[in-house]
This record gives sequence, structure tokens and C-alpha cells, in this order.
Amino acid sequence: MKKLFALAALSAAVTSSAFAQAYPNKPITFVVPFAPGPTDTVARHLADAMRKTLGPNTTIIVENAAGAGGTIGAAKVARAAPDGYTLLVFHIAMASSPALYRKLSYKPLDDFEYLGMINDVPMTVIGTNKLNANTYRDFESYIRANSGKLNIAHAGLGSASHLCGLMWQSAMKLDKSITSIAYKGTGPAMADLLGGQVDMMCDQTTNTTAQIESGRVKAFAVTTPKRLDKHKLLKDYPTLQEMGLKDFNLTIWHGLYAPKGTPPEITKKLNEALRAALKDPEFIKREEDLGAVVVTDNRLTPAGHKAFVAGEITKLKTVIDAAGQFAD
Ligand code: MLT
Repeated sequence: MKKLFALAALSAAVTSSAFAQAYPNKPITFVVPFAPGPTDTVARHLADAMRKTLGPNTTIIVENAAGAGGTIGAAKVARAAPDGYTLLVFHIAMASSPALYRKLSYKPLDDFEYLGMINDVPMTVIGTNKLNANTYRDFESYIRANSGKLNIAHAGLGSASHLCGLMWQSAMKLDKSITSIAYKGTGPAMADLLGGQVDMMCDQTTNTTAQIESGRVKAFAVTTPKRLDKHKLLKDYPTLQEMGLKDFNLTIWHGLYAPKGTPPEITKKLNEALRAALKDPEFIKREEDLGAVVVTDNRLTPAGHKAFVAGEITKLKTVIDAAGQFAD
């Protein structure tokens, strides 16, 4: 009987390592839980880099599954087959959604394998060119004088832009709140901001840099504690802290995830390919040109990634409970 078990274990090990060796042998899907926009941009940069590091015949498809601040796409991957072929590229909403969506259909820390972090992305406070303001001070006075008549776009409750708008408005202690308008992503929201249908938005530099550079939107401030000194364009914008919003600090981060139960041989291969991709000079340049910072610390390890997200879940619960706005 013992010999039989040993044989069974041996054949299981052989099968799974053979399985891992053959991986990937069909297209991999990166699920982006928003319409084309900042997270989609990061996912496509990463797909291009990981096609190189996962092996010559690797095919990676980026699929947008938008809605409910990213929780619809995340739920799709949580339920997907744990075979390494359906992965999730997600941001800070992985950590904000448990507090906001009290009936969330998945558990961020239990239903996913953590494959490593990708980047940190600052946010910018931007407005339509129709606004009669050119500096943050002008903008702030304009908002204080017209807050009940203005609107702010975001990518759904719990999204990065929603979280930023929430934190910014509560830090400004406005008399009247600004009307918030939800989109399936800040990509489509940006189109309406360019058209002047919406007044303002707080969005990731990966989605705003090109529009700021082309002068098609006005930028007023960045959400990081320090100025973006390394960026040729964004270095000129003050931080919200400089503008008097004490301790204001919001940086968006992205990570890669697989469904819980994906074989360890495959998650190890994906983590190694991710880490190699993050060293790719072309990937780094594409990210840095858009103001993002590629992760180089222990968040590159699955354990470091998971520990970081666990800390963010606790931190953001305080912010969201304080704001008292819930999705359900
Ligand atoms: C994204 O693509 O990252 C979202 O549309 C932006 C957000 O979450 O605010």
C-alpha cells in the first residue's frame, strides 16, 4: 500500500511539473476590470514585456471586463479555472472594495494567488479647459464658489478616481459636495472631460500625462507627498500637501493575480516572468514616460505583495468608514 501511495505521489509530481514545463501552451488572458484607460495601458505594457519573458510562443490577450469599480472583472477571475490562463491586472480597488462593497462576491486575500506587484502610479487633479482657472489656488476658489454646480468624473465606486475624489473633497471640507458621475473607466470619462461634459477628475498619470502634455486638459496638482521631480512635465505641478491639504497622500498601485489554487509551479513561473519583465528597459521607459514607478522592493515577491495589500485593506477601511459612503 505504501509503495502505491509513493507511486501515486510521484506520478502526480511528474504530471504537474510536466504541466508546468508545457505552460503556457495556449493564449493567456489578462483581465482588466475597467474600460480601456490607465489600468489597460499598464496591462498592455506588461503583456508586451511578459510575452518575451514567458517564452517565445507566448500569446497574451488583454480583455476588458468593466463595471462596479473593477469588482466585476475581479470576480470573474476569482471564479476562473486555476490553470494559469486567466489572470487579473488590478489596482488599489483590490484593497478598497471590501470596505465599500459589503456584499462582495469574493475575498481579496483568500480567492487569489498573488503573483507580484507591478508599479506605483501618482494621480493628478485635472479639469476641463473650459474652467476659468489656471492654478490650483484659482481652481480651489472656483470650486468653493461653485461646488454645488460642478461635477467630478470617476470610474465607479471604489475605483482609484473615486477614492481620490472622496479623499480630496473631504480634505477640502467643502460646504456643498460636487456631483459625482460614474463611468466604466477613466478612459471614457476622459473623453467627456475633453469635450467639456464633465468639469474635473482625479486620475492616474498613466491616463493624464498625454492630455496634459497636449494642452487638452488643465492640471492643477499631484496627489503624492513629494513633487514628481524626475518627470519632465509633471515636475511643475504642486502637491496637494503644498496646497494646504495636510498629509494628503495617494498613490495607485497595480498587481498581478491568478485564481486561488493555481499550481505553485505555474505561479512561480509567472512570478519569475513578471520580475524579469519589470527589468525590461522598454517596459520601464514606457511606464516612466507616463509618470509610473516600476516596483523594485519586496512587493515583487508573492508574500510581500499579499502583505502589502493586507495593510492597504486595513488602511483604506478607515478612510472609507470615515467617509461613510458605501456601494451597497
Ligand atoms: C482604471 O483603468 O484604472 C480605472 O478606470 C481608473 C480608476 O480606477 O479610477
